[in-house]
Amino acid sequence: MKKLSPSILSADFSDLGNEIKEVESAGASMIHCDIMDGHFVPNISFGPYIVKIVNEITKLPLDVHLMIDNPERYIADFKKAGADYLSVHLENNIHLQKLVSQIKDSGIKAGVAINPSTPVCLLKEIMPFLDFVLVMSVNPGFGGQTFIKESLIKIGQIKSIIKENKYNCLIEVDGGINLLNIKQISDAGADILVAGASIFNSENKSNTLKQMIDLINQ
Ligand code: DX5
Ligand code: ZN
Repeated sequence: MKKLSPSILSADFSDLGNEIKEVESAGASMIHCDIMDGHFVPNISFGPYIVKIVNEITKLPLDVHLMIDNPERYIADFKKAGADYLSVHLENNIHLQKLVSQIKDSGIKAGVAINPSTPVCLLKEIMPFLDFVLVMSVNPGFGGQTFIKESLIKIGQIKSIIKENKYNCLIEVDGGINLLNIKQISDAGADILVAGASIFNSENKSNTLKQMIDLINQ
């Protein structure tokens, strides 16, 4: 079964409890939490305090995407807050293998995210250490952007590397995913599909999410 991971970045934070409960009962596999620091990305979102609250609201695993500089300083805080999956970016982390080990040693599944302009070949040496790769299909920082369709090629390239080397590594895709493109992205090789605006801004969130789950598991 492929996994759908709704991003709460586009949820109504004044009613966060109900927003999360709705996607949980409609069949979401995990909850995607976008952490932004105003340095690595232009936007600022929220930190471990909100992640802890999300963890109290839902039984689903928390998929925490760190778009921050110096993430090594905060791994313990996100572990304490309830993170189950944690992704860091390739572009701003020089000691990436050390960072990935730190995440795994904390008992969290470790992922590395790549921006749209970052080539897949840069993942080669780190890939054997990863539980998942996160392919950004928009430039990180904001919800509601348009899917960059060239990302489909990158998903296919990563899928081939995983297959050839028999790595135990999932592919997550994040940004601009909606009802019209989700099947194509899933067919390209995505195992975990993140969707924010297309779920939380839709008139019937449960219905949209259920349709997405049907499409990715066809
Ligand atoms: C973008 C975030 C995404 C975003 C996805 O920087 O990493 O997770 O919330 O939202 P949509 O689906 O609206 O592009
Ligand atoms: Zn994200």
